[in-house]
Amino acid sequence: MKFFLDTANIDEIKRCATFGFLDGVTTNPSLMAREGISDQAERIKEICELSEGPVSAEVLATDTEAMVEEARTLAEIAPNVVVKLPLTMPGLAATRELAEMGVAVNVTLVFSPLQSLLAAKAGAAFVSPFVGRLDDIGQDGMDLVENIVSIYSNYAFETEVIVASIRSPQHVLRAALIGADICTIPFKVIEQLASHPLTDKGLAAFLADHQNAAARKGHSAAH
Ligand code: E4P
Repeated sequence: MKFFLDTANIDEIKRCATFGFLDGVTTNPSLMAREGISDQAERIKEICELSEGPVSAEVLATDTEAMVEEARTLAEIAPNVVVKLPLTMPGLAATRELAEMGVAVNVTLVFSPLQSLLAAKAGAAFVSPFVGRLDDIGQDGMDLVENIVSIYSNYAFETEVIVASIRSPQHVLRAALIGADICTIPFKVIEQLASHPLTDKGLAAFLADHQNAAARKGHSAAH
């Protein structure tokens, strides 16, 4: 399973890259706003210099023609830019046009299996089901991922499934068990993936035992 970082924060991307598991980055207008950015082009360029994998940049236009135009401008920033379009009828028409031009599209704000089927049929390279936001309204977001993976497998769609709106390591675990292609993960959750209280406790005990043994050796050498 590939790990994308769900952020527009440069420090987080740099830190994640040092561990060797940065397979791509996803951004959205809210993540850009969190960084105080209103014109995303410069930040997307910076991110593309740090990530060899796909970098999703979301369009703000809402009608097909304007979406295609904005998407083409974003795609010119770097060869690994993937344009993010919402799952709306104009968004699907723009996805089809852009796919035919060879521009990779990540269809975002996907909340149902049938929406994901439409995205794949329109030619999306990626589809982003938002699991956390479904959990927030009392549904099981990971059920949606399971359904999408089954549908895409039934019809051999090549569209890759990006599990998005991840809130906890449990989402990542279930995505891996289901066999989703990608998780896009906030940095805080990446840290949670690495952390286990028994690892910390075990390490502290190993270091204490080593220090005690060294102290005993020093003590017996002195007598
Ligand atoms: C990524 O593609 C999505 O935009 C992001 O994961 C949404 O996450 P949120 O529901 O926490 O805002």
